[in-house]
Amino acid sequence: MEENWLRTLYRFANGHKALFIWSIFFSTLSVFAGIVPYVIGARIMTDIIDKQYERHEITWLLVWMLITFLFKTIFHGISTTLSHHAAYNILNDLRNAITNRLMQTSLGVVKRFSSGTIKNTILDRTEGVEIPLAHMIPELSANIFVIIVTVVYLATMDIRLALSALLTIPLASIPLFFLMKNFEQKYQNYMRANNQVNSVMVEYIEGIEVIKTFNQTGTSFRKFSDAVTSFKEYTLNWLQTAWKTQNLIFALLPFTLLGVLPVGIWLYLDHVLTLNQLLLGLLLAIGLGGPLNKLSLFTNDFSAMKQSVLNTQKFLELPLLDFRKKEIGRPLDGSVDVINVNFGYKKNELVLSNINLEIPSKSFFAIVGPSGSGKSTLLQLLNRFWDVQSGKIRVGKVELTELTQQQLNRTISYVTQDSFLFKGTIEDNIKMGKPDATPQEIEAAAHAAMCWDFIEALPQGMKTEVSFGNNHLSGGQQQRISIARAILKDAPIIILDEPTASIDPENERQIQESLLRLARDKTVIMVAHRLSTIKNADQIIVLDNGKIVGAGQHAELLEECAAYQRLWESYTQTEEWHISNH
Ligand SMILES: Nc1ncnc2c1ncn2[C@@H]1O[C@H](COP(=O)(O)OP(=O)(O)OP(=O)(O)O)[C@@H](O)[C@H]1O
Ligand SMILES: [Mg+2]
Repeated sequence: MEENWLRTLYRFANGHKALFIWSIFFSTLSVFAGIVPYVIGARIMTDIIDKQYERHEITWLLVWMLITFLFKTIFHGISTTLSHHAAYNILNDLRNAITNRLMQTSLGVVKRFSSGTIKNTILDRTEGVEIPLAHMIPELSANIFVIIVTVVYLATMDIRLALSALLTIPLASIPLFFLMKNFEQKYQNYMRANNQVNSVMVEYIEGIEVIKTFNQTGTSFRKFSDAVTSFKEYTLNWLQTAWKTQNLIFALLPFTLLGVLPVGIWLYLDHVLTLNQLLLGLLLAIGLGGPLNKLSLFTNDFSAMKQSVLNTQKFLELPLLDFRKKEIGRPLDGSVDVINVNFGYKKNELVLSNINLEIPSKSFFAIVGPSGSGKSTLLQLLNRFWDVQSGKIRVGKVELTELTQQQLNRTISYVTQDSFLFKGTIEDNIKMGKPDATPQEIEAAAHAAMCWDFIEALPQGMKTEVSFGNNHLSGGQQQRISIARAILKDAPIIILDEPTASIDPENERQIQESLLRLARDKTVIMVAHRLSTIKNADQIIVLDNGKIVGAGQHAELLEECAAYQRLWESYTQTEEWHISNH
């Protein structure tokens, strides 16, 4: 069920209510202080007209005008500081809520959005809530309050005078109606165009290596610049159609004299109002212009905020993987059982069918098969990145669906096919596996993953800064750092997806050695492309087109399994090719 957007906003604003209340308080003081100069002005003018003044008195009144103006500015400053504080806190909460939600939803749902769209929502769309929140809540409430008080005051002189001050509101609502008619539709289109630019930009930057290698700079750049141009055209077009109506509203709404001047003069001539009252009425009406104008500005902000909240809401309501909230069973050991599992990314297309595996604790288990046969998918199922369509997966004799997310994290370490390094030092990257690890533990993990030597050889050692896609480490070195991360985490089951890119023999030997060490007291489940890595595995399964077509040890499979023989043949051929090309 989609929550009403105002309710969502209220839910996030609720925690910062006190700040908003103080902000409204100071904003109201500020708007009143802004009205005072008009009242004083009226007083000075009637004094002058009545010729009942003394010079120093007028001077003092002028000084008071200045002082109240200063107060207006100061109060406004305090009010916006408070509201900005609240707004940025809300923004922070919103962003955290979205990232948390993304963490708790299945990988498939997250991957439906491009990284540009996700970045756009978390950073830019949420920002759309900030300006309206920080300004609208305090200023809108204060301005409405002042308008009411002023109008009530005018009504004490004469009700007709009060009503005439509001004449521009119905007049300005006519163009406002036309302006707002298709606003939501247009704003949605605007956001779509904006998302498109963001996605293309992220793609362009992430793929810059490929773009350069294939000399596509021309076409890829055109795709990027086309997106930017069409975004510009859309925005300009929209602005051009909107600005005339908008200017009409801006000009009309604050022009309160339109009603007050004729009505006031008529009432004065009829002796209903004194001259003093007429002047005060006129000046107060002019003073109303500012607050009224603010109201018209906020109609735009209000819709923009609505769209921003609706947009973020889409992410706040992503379906969750239903992990257990409380621990019930505990995984007994590092064994893994897969029972009659079927799975497909789309409803009617099975990527894995009828998979049965029995992986004993502390064994070395390997999965091989041609590209696209479903190896990575199977590993991801073990990690519950997706839920199976039918069948069961158990770790340590407990079903995956019976575990809390923390339990699953503690039980399984997962090294992905593209070893991901986060922005930070190498040490930070390894420590992710266990944030409170001591330097000794980190060193031991680095030794075990055979990456200690090359890290020590770097000028800054463990403190070397790295980031994803931007570091001077080789693929094999990055892989070993992620293995160290997994080792440090010390989970009973380690799942590895070997990278397809070829790695030099020295790197390969080191990775192999670190894996063998690892398998001594942990369950290692590994997808292997270089078959030499798994010659010593306790059990190997061969996947083809989502089905298990062979199971056993290297020597057995080489004799009995045709699919394995094919894999072995092509592997040894590429190896020979590598060697002869060295
Ligand atoms: N997120 C996804 N959405 C839809 N289909 C997917 C997704 N990921 C993989 N597939 C499809 O599922 C099948 C199995 O892919 P998978 O990545 O498991 O293969 P793999 O055996 O790991 O291949 P490789 O050796 O190249 O890594 C492929 O046909 C692939 O196109
Ligand atoms: Mg794969």
